[in-house]
Amino acid sequence: GPSGLGIEIVSTISKLQDVFTPVGLASAAQADLPQICVLGSQSSGKSSVLENIVGRHFLPCGSGIVTQRPLVIQLTNRPASAPAPSDNGVTPARMENDKNASQDEWGEFLHLPGQKFYDFNKIREEIVREANAARKTGISLQPINLRIFSPNVSTLTLVDLPGVTKVPSGDQPPDIDKQIRDMLMEFIANPACIILAITDANEDLDNSEGLQMALEVDPEGTRTIGVLTKVDLMDAGADVVDILAGRIIPLRLGYVPVVNRGQHDIDSNRPISYTLENEREFFKNHPSYRDKAQYCGTSFLAQKLNRILNLHIRNTLSDIQARITQELQKFTAELQTLGGPLGSGGSANVVLSDITKFMSEFKTVIDENPNDLSVNE
Ligand code: GDP
Ligand code: NA
Ligand code: MG
Repeated sequence: GPSGLGIEIVSTISKLQDVFTPVGLASAAQADLPQICVLGSQSSGKSSVLENIVGRHFLPCGSGIVTQRPLVIQLTNRPASAPAPSDNGVTPARMENDKNASQDEWGEFLHLPGQKFYDFNKIREEIVREANAARKTGISLQPINLRIFSPNVSTLTLVDLPGVTKVPSGDQPPDIDKQIRDMLMEFIANPACIILAITDANEDLDNSEGLQMALEVDPEGTRTIGVLTKVDLMDAGADVVDILAGRIIPLRLGYVPVVNRGQHDIDSNRPISYTLENEREFFKNHPSYRDKAQYCGTSFLAQKLNRILNLHIRNTLSDIQARITQELQKFTAELQTLGGPLGSGGSANVVLSDITKFMSEFKTVIDENPNDLSVNE
């Protein structure tokens, strides 16, 4: 199966945006499109999980490195300017870190308009620089906005969030803990937010603050996936099998165990290909997981996300359609009172028929790929 966020999502979301952009509704539609947020305590591996999903090492990660401000990463699919020489014909939704920088992949920060970053190490440096600069001016919880353009990503928004709790440091207000919680709540309360509740497998699941917060805003568990990190650091004989089986805190969408880069791998700058291969080998060879290795790791997490995103889009699309129909009717009526040119065949109706056509195409795609979201996969 696909190892990254699949091509179907790329095409359906791109189409959706194509339909909305000419009528100036792109931002309205964007608000309803899914965002993927990582939620968990400090150092639980949030940034590392996101990096693996994107398929690039570009975030500040490490035991002493704390995500200070929310980082909103807008992945934007953009076809390559020239056809790639030979890429096996398949479309894995990931980029290779160890390849030379490509002219077709770059990042841009909202606070640095027009400046293109082709070197992903420089992106990381800029995130750190901007976070530190803002700390001094006291707006440390404002999001940093980064857009990544690439032919190899799905058009999708990911959010790297600060850890749930934080011990205030010298220059920070004593209520920083509450400020962070409120800010996190704002992100995860959005019904369009898919929550990756990250928990270190070596910690007690009952004490997972990320999971507790997620269940507060999503008690039905329709948009929370549990992610268990550092499975490779568990004592011999210990495993997460009981959690996966839903015997500890059951989650409707289940849990996925992952193995990210360890601190040593970060220090020695291991490429993404190594990280993912190492993870695959780990689950394939571990006595507790080898008979269910296909349900473990980043690749399974990406597949799961893909299906949840599809389902989520299908459910929100009807709402979007209803709202747009309403807007267009209002708009048409206003134009008519102004004696405008819109008759029954006006451009508003053309747009609406485009949307309706898109909806039915999209539903066909979904129906041909029924979602199996059962926990006992
Ligand atoms: P964050 O603070 O939640 O964003 O966590 P990071 O992604 O920065 O990771 C914190 C530390 O945990 C880093 O030293 C990582 O190398 C380490 N780490 C994260 N996930 C894993 C994992 O699955 N296995 C191992 N061995 N180390 C991990
Ligand atoms: Na960290
Ligand atoms: Mg982090």
